[in-house]
Amino acid sequence: MKGFPTTIAIDGPAASGKSTLGALLAESLGYLYFDTGVMYRAVTLAVIEGGLYVEDEQAIGELAKSIRIDVQPPSVDDGREFDVLLDDTDVTREIRKESVNEHVSTISAYAIVREEMTAQQRRIAKENKVVMVGRDIGTVVMPDADLKIFLDASVEVRAHRRYQEMINRGERPDYDAVLRSLINRDQIDTNREIAPLKPAEDAVVIHVDCLGIQQVLSKAKELVKNV
Ligand code: DC
Repeated sequence: MKGFPTTIAIDGPAASGKSTLGALLAESLGYLYFDTGVMYRAVTLAVIEGGLYVEDEQAIGELAKSIRIDVQPPSVDDGREFDVLLDDTDVTREIRKESVNEHVSTISAYAIVREEMTAQQRRIAKENKVVMVGRDIGTVVMPDADLKIFLDASVEVRAHRRYQEMINRGERPDYDAVLRSLINRDQIDTNREIAPLKPAEDAVVIHVDCLGIQQVLSKAKELVKNV
């Protein structure tokens, strides 16, 4: 029994619903919600826009050190939870585009990129009551988090969810392509050498295949009360 949790880590694979859960849980507690995936996405966008080769780890490491990524309260009322700024430019929408999805797992596996992002995430965790969401929050970024939740879901359920999100945004996705992209990202995120995707030993794993978001949220709130 540690008392009321002030640092909450939520990890899980792509499209497992961890961002939705994180945002709702943070809102209900009045904590900062921080989705660490946006940082890796912003680096990836900078790589693409800068015309760097995705394989050029050294140049990408230098770039990661030189750019400034900020996450701020939303300035536009389009359903976003926050603004993501890359060197003062709003890239909130751009970081969700397909070319970023395609390369973000490769780029987020690079050591210097992770070093830079992890340092910034730890600073944020120190300064705030926070619900932090990602792949390695419970294992690496906040190993002493008061509560660690790992969301697990089959790749098919996640592909359907991602597909539906894209339809809702007015896009015309191909389900098989969405499924293939998730399988590929899972593979890279799980098997990389540094900070691979896995539940921390003391994480509570929630299998969400058959659960709606409200059910997942109430399970998480129970955990918060019972830490
Ligand atoms: O959660 P997301 O889909 O926005 O994350 C994008 C990518 O960033 C994901 O493929 C892996 C990487 N990532 C990571 O390596 N570590 C984190 N803490 C968060 C995201």
